[in-house]
Amino acid sequence: MSARPILVTGATGKLGQLIVERLVALGQPVRVFTRRPETARILFKETVQVAAGDFGDRPTLDEAVHGIGRLLLLSPISARLVTDQIAVADAAVAANVARIVKISGSDWTIEPPGNSISGAAHAAIERHLGGLPAETVSLRPNAWMQVSLANTVRQAIANGQVIAANLNAGIGYIDARDIADVAVHQLLADRVRGRTLNLTGSDVVSFRQIAVLLAAALKRPVAALEKPPQTVPGHGDFEHRAVAQFVRLIAAGRAATTTNVVATLLGRPPRTVAAFISEQLASATAVPEYQP
Ligand SMILES: NC(=O)c1ccc[n+]([C@@H]2O[C@H](COP(=O)([O-])OP(=O)(O)OC[C@H]3O[C@@H](n4cnc5c(N)ncnc54)[C@H](OP(=O)(O)O)[C@@H]3O)[C@@H](O)[C@H]2O)c1
Repeated sequence: MSARPILVTGATGKLGQLIVERLVALGQPVRVFTRRPETARILFKETVQVAAGDFGDRPTLDEAVHGIGRLLLLSPISARLVTDQIAVADAAVAANVARIVKISGSDWTIEPPGNSISGAAHAAIERHLGGLPAETVSLRPNAWMQVSLANTVRQAIANGQVIAANLNAGIGYIDARDIADVAVHQLLADRVRGRTLNLTGSDVVSFRQIAVLLAAALKRPVAALEKPPQTVPGHGDFEHRAVAQFVRLIAAGRAATTTNVVATLLGRPPRTVAAFISEQLASATAVPEYQP
């Protein structure tokens, strides 16, 4: 690994923070790209270089990519996903970046095509990366425990309910810390492992099973309720439409997949849903009394 810094976009977000912390702990030089340099300073102190800018502002991108060796490419789901990520990747290639590790969409949003606007956007970026003169790998993580499962746990703590469009639909949830571990592995490895990596946890767990796990852990009833999925709006906010499509795909069982990619790359099994639920409950400071 050269001493050229690794540029991390989305560094102040949920996954980006985990990736930066790991790279810093390994003594890697890191530069973060952010619209909020003060927030980055609070989060990372003096451990990283901070490049202030916006994906839509090419001069700030050109400055941020100057002298970097590798790029961790992450940006939020939005109508600008393709434009923003291609702008970052192209700027990085113009600065002779050697490797790009992209955080992509879940595999089931991308394959088969035609089911998800977010998956289609990530697929378009993956295709663009494939044509660039740099090593590239796209990580396709399944639904993150820290997002959808954490919401389900919070709901059960607050209301004693797990609500899903299909209680029998399973998800091969992945812990975001495992995604971060794989991202760091792929940034620092001698070579990347293929063009796309489908990252999942080791178990498929249904909403009904989650309700049972939560009831046992909370030692109180947790009701499992089905609620029909909302209609996907024909137009309007991109993220809203993308999330409505995720709900329908999950209800159809599309996220019920596991792979052995995390274990193969990291040499240890992925973190489990049961362990995540235990941690969440242990860290919930004020668990309100359940009112039947
Ligand atoms: N949640 C899941 O289950 C899941 C599953 C598969 C894939 N994913 C993918 O994960 C990604 C989201 O990751 P996340 O949840 O960690 O993101 P996040 O917490 O929403 O953070 C978004 C980051 O993007 C940065 N950002 C936003 N707009 C920017 C702009 N115009 N210029 C520069 N930086 C900008 C923000 O930085 P500043 O505000 O500091 O500028 C922030 O660090 C998406 O691509 C999504 O498709 C998520």
